[in-house]
Amino acid sequence: MGCIYNGVCSSLFDIFLWQQVTHLAAVMEHCGISPSRYGSLSKSGLFSNSLWICSKFSLSPPLHSGNSSGDFNHFPGDPEFGDIIQRAEQAIEGGVFPERISQGSSGSYFVKDSKGKILGVFKPKSEEPYGHLNPKWTKYFHKLCCPCCFGRGCLIPNQGYLSEVAASHVDTRLGLGVVPKTKAVYLVSETFHYNTIDRAKSRGKKYALEMVPKVGRHFHRVGLPPKLGSFQLFVEGYHEADYWLRRFEAEPLPENIRKQLQSQFERLVILDYVIRNTDRGNDNWLIKYEKSGEGEGEKVSCVCVCAIQIAAIDNGLAFPFKHPDEWRAYPFHWACLPQAKVPFSQETRELVLSRLSDMNFVQDLCEDLYEMFMADKGFDKTMFEKQMSVMRGQILNLSQALKDNKTPIQLVQMPRVVVERSRTGGQGRVVTLGTAFTQTFHCKRPFFSSW
Ligand SMILES: Nc1ncnc2c1ncn2[C@@H]1O[C@H](COP(=O)(O)OP(=O)(O)OP(=O)(O)O)[C@@H](O)[C@H]1O
Ligand SMILES: [Mg+2]
Repeated sequence: MGCIYNGVCSSLFDIFLWQQVTHLAAVMEHCGISPSRYGSLSKSGLFSNSLWICSKFSLSPPLHSGNSSGDFNHFPGDPEFGDIIQRAEQAIEGGVFPERISQGSSGSYFVKDSKGKILGVFKPKSEEPYGHLNPKWTKYFHKLCCPCCFGRGCLIPNQGYLSEVAASHVDTRLGLGVVPKTKAVYLVSETFHYNTIDRAKSRGKKYALEMVPKVGRHFHRVGLPPKLGSFQLFVEGYHEADYWLRRFEAEPLPENIRKQLQSQFERLVILDYVIRNTDRGNDNWLIKYEKSGEGEGEKVSCVCVCAIQIAAIDNGLAFPFKHPDEWRAYPFHWACLPQAKVPFSQETRELVLSRLSDMNFVQDLCEDLYEMFMADKGFDKTMFEKQMSVMRGQILNLSQALKDNKTPIQLVQMPRVVVERSRTGGQGRVVTLGTAFTQTFHCKRPFFSSW
């Protein structure tokens, strides 16, 4: 009975709050304040953050009925992606639930379509390694007993899903094509990790809806609350990099394929360096290698139909707010590979150098990331600025390395740079760039480092 009472009360409160918010929104519209400016109001506490995210990602408010997260997910600029999310939602409604990936330190899920085919990998914010609903108690234990050894002191906690989304954006803006498309999505499933209160509330509301339909009809939401997280498209036919790299040692690749792999590898290096990924082990990138014609009777002499592709997955531990140089260096594991000893190719230089050395491009990229990160509940502008200062420093080093014909190993050995926006500086347009940023070099070596 207590449950029903709680459920009804909180729902009445939801209705009240929603009415206040819609009323306020109407007043704002009347005063000519556009929805794109609600963000500042959200930060001042007038709007709940979830409403702001909702207005940014879906452009429509949560409806008063229904159990689905579908109300939140709209991708007008990307109907193909929207269609995939819709298929995932329909599958969940039909009882094909996301399945937790057993490995890993956080709650990550394979999301399927109604036939059970995997569509993507969903990583809810609340189930990140240090999220309050992380299903793996070992992480909680680490945090409690030995926080300095396990957390990454250079990263803002619980922003992993944004890091995943932002990595995909950087990949697209640079034309690298190595990160499977990743966006922020709301999903709800009973296989996600919810606390007892949420489950009890949901049961209470369902019960109240059955018993007192008149009241129940006004519930903001009857089922479990949708979770916000990153949704990355699933790529098929890939193996962990380690698997293929070992095989390539035993069976060297034909020259044209080796070149393709080298080119893909350089794109991975560029991505990781720009976003300063702190978790690029060889288990966090995948390789797909298809030898067409294999096993067709006679040996095909020309293997030029082969194709090799890299997928950079698990980008949730990137965009640090300072260089990781105190205790642990979080090296890029690819720096030990033979591919890292080869200077960047002309093709790679042509692909990215003009963009990376254009300060307007960099500024636009920072602005795009600001739009993404500011939607998060824990957003802190000062910390974000620091994240961008690190990223600008990385970009500066990378452009120099590309101009100087350096190898990836030489790149990671360059002194760390931070490019901060000057306090007195302009707004980051080309005319004022000379005075708008300050560079700081860090030559201190990390305590644990492989170079
Ligand atoms: N986009 C993808 N396409 C195909 N397979 C994927 C994709 N993303 C993840 N996987 C598979 O799921 C596994 C776990 O993914 P991921 O490393 O991103 O999760 P995680 O929970 O962060 O794990 P960990 O903490 O071990 O890094 C990967 O090793 C890979 O096999
Ligand atoms: Mg991983």
